[in-house]
Amino acid sequence: MKIRSIITAAMALLVATSCSAGAKQEKAMTAKGKSIVVFFSHAGDNYAVGDIEVGNTKIVADYISEITGADQFEIATHKYDGMAYTPLINLAKEETRKGELPPYEGDIDLSAYDTVFIGGPIWWGTYPQVMFTFFKNHEGDLAGKNVIPFTTHEGSGLANTVDDVKDAFPDANVTKGFSIYGHEVRTERAKVEKWLKSLGY
Ligand SMILES: Cc1cc2nc3c(=O)[nH]c(=O)nc-3n(C[C@H](O)[C@H](O)[C@H](O)COP(=O)(O)O)c2cc1C
Repeated sequence: MKIRSIITAAMALLVATSCSAGAKQEKAMTAKGKSIVVFFSHAGDNYAVGDIEVGNTKIVADYISEITGADQFEIATHKYDGMAYTPLINLAKEETRKGELPPYEGDIDLSAYDTVFIGGPIWWGTYPQVMFTFFKNHEGDLAGKNVIPFTTHEGSGLANTVDDVKDAFPDANVTKGFSIYGHEVRTERAKVEKWLKSLGY
């Protein structure tokens, strides 16, 4: 009799635990909802990793999509195609100084998404200006959504990106952000996995 009540109590505990774990999981999924990675990335001459066919940030964007199932929108322009590193650095410096807003190709309706990862390289202390064109075109579109900034860089980390995203989308829930060295992205997928795990993915 005593043994039977112990077994019954243990089973009740097991059921209660698995139910609450299930509920917790569901709550986290609901909070993250449908996700997309919006990113810019520049393939070609890169000081730290040579002439690359796929940009560093695109590699991280692909990891995020593989791990979380997020859709993608690439903020694409042909403006920098084929440019050597030094002229690109100079052009980007001018664009940043003048606050230029270069156009990008196509666009995306973000209304279906609950979580938006935003990623790009650091160019002169923040995201490339073409990303600010995207931010301007989507003013107000991320109200109440989760926004998760990330960068690839060669020493600046997140630099001003998180503040700039908060300024662009004051009504969004902007999280802490993640940065990784551009020269590490091909070998350090585990760092991206660890970061996403910390977010509950
Ligand atoms: C125009 C330009 C400006 C850059 N400015 C910075 C910078 O201010 N700080 C930094 O850490 N890295 C800087 N970098 C390095 C890039 O952030 C780094 O290589 C990044 O991983 C490139 O990503 P992508 O291949 O996705 O474009 C700069 C690179 C370029 C081309």
